Amino acid sequence: MPAVAPSFILKEMSAVPNKTFYLETFGCQMNVHDSEKVIGTLISQGYRQVETVQEAGLVLYNTCSIRDKAEQKVFHRLADYKALQKQGKKFGVLGCVAQQEGERIFQRAPHVSLVCGSASYRNLPEMLVQIEAGKSRVTGLDDRQTDQTFETEYTARSNPHRGYITIIEGCDKFCAYCVVPFTRGKERSRTSDSVLAEARKMADQGFTEIQLLGQNVNSYRDPSGKKTFAELLASVGEIGGVRRVWFTTSHPRDFGKDIVDAVDAVPALCDHVHLPVQSGSTRVLDLMKRLYTRDQYLERISWMKAARRRISITTDIIVGFPGETESDFAETIDLLNEVEYDGVFSFKYSPRPNTPALTYIDSIPEEEKVRRLAVLNARQKEISAALNQRHLGETLEVMVEGLNPARGQWIGRTSQHKVLNFTTSGGEEPRIGQYLPVRVTATFPNSLLGEMTV
Ligand code: SAH
Ligand code: SF4
Ligand code: F3S
Repeated sequence: MPAVAPSFILKEMSAVPNKTFYLETFGCQMNVHDSEKVIGTLISQGYRQVETVQEAGLVLYNTCSIRDKAEQKVFHRLADYKALQKQGKKFGVLGCVAQQEGERIFQRAPHVSLVCGSASYRNLPEMLVQIEAGKSRVTGLDDRQTDQTFETEYTARSNPHRGYITIIEGCDKFCAYCVVPFTRGKERSRTSDSVLAEARKMADQGFTEIQLLGQNVNSYRDPSGKKTFAELLASVGEIGGVRRVWFTTSHPRDFGKDIVDAVDAVPALCDHVHLPVQSGSTRVLDLMKRLYTRDQYLERISWMKAARRRISITTDIIVGFPGETESDFAETIDLLNEVEYDGVFSFKYSPRPNTPALTYIDSIPEEEKVRRLAVLNARQKEISAALNQRHLGETLEVMVEGLNPARGQWIGRTSQHKVLNFTTSGGEEPRIGQYLPVRVTATFPNSLLGEMTV
């Protein structure tokens, strides 16, 4: 257990009213999971989580810097609540904006007293003690040199059925547009033994779904040399009680056929792969420094299409990267048609600090980026709608995620990661976390609708 200072000392020194904290998280699943670990760390230090900024003594933002809009959010939040500093509240910025901006945050928002990047979370207990002691500028800004991963005794997982496990932190790829290698440091993998121990512990606690996380899970290198990523994936899927295993995100360059073989061989591994392509043009992929060509990417897609199970495939695409011509963009649309993705997350290129692409001439006007994004989304909507239609009449297993009372529908998720809302015809009410067979009665571009069959 982390050392907890005796409570009488903390009371005397306390600069954080009631040792309460509020934490808001922006960004990707890695951030969501980091927040669960940060919450666990704070609770182990005697803090209590509250639901509003008003109730909290310590207000924390776990931030994202992937696009400019994401970065601006935290500064808006800090401005909104600035006046509350007079009540003795302390403010802290964690995550990717913290790492990127460092001490500049104190200038932009002088009421902030803690700035801590993700590679320094293991030092949070000492930082909290400094804040308690009234120190007004506390920083944790370990850079790319760190070899540490952030593992906690207690992780406050927000969902009792589905939980994340980080297997690798950081990124060494340096795609030309991306801040992540600068905000999350170098790649460091956890040993397969520690990942499996955490997965077994979760299975014992009743978790049935596990999502393995990393900026680039395919770069996983077991420090003990025991398992490849595909072997680790299979081992997690073989743990008793684990019914579904997902993994995200995969980088095409390191995506091996052994992963597809594992999905075919181990039933608990989900039939869904998120494989970000970014562009359908090899020329643009080269400018982006993605380290693969369109053909190499398509080869990986062909492995998935040849699998015994029908694997659903999703991707990320950036439109309007500097130098992307109309014909490059046409190649991206052509790739959508060829691959037939189940879903696409699409973004307009956003120039980011420290990245090599910042020096490229961002010659594509905003209206053109908006147009390309709209064209891409319209085409993808047709493709997703057509693919989803194939599920009509099928009976699929869902995990019940919740109830939408306004619609009188339960929310379920299939192992292909699709949302399947459903109704029941009387009988026993479904329970959240339960697995149920649902017959698909209608399909839409982004979801399916069905009826419970038992
Ligand atoms: N590690 C993952 C994704 C990380 S970020 C990968 O390699 O694919 C998630 C997505 O945000 C990226 O896939 C990319 O599509 C998008 N993205 C990253 N930087 C961006 C930028 N500067 N502008 C627009 N989109 C960006
Ligand atoms: Fe960013 Fe590329 Fe690393 Fe993904 S692989 S996190 S896009 S640098
Ligand atoms: Fe954002 Fe950092 Fe994740 S920049 S997308 S929170 S790794």
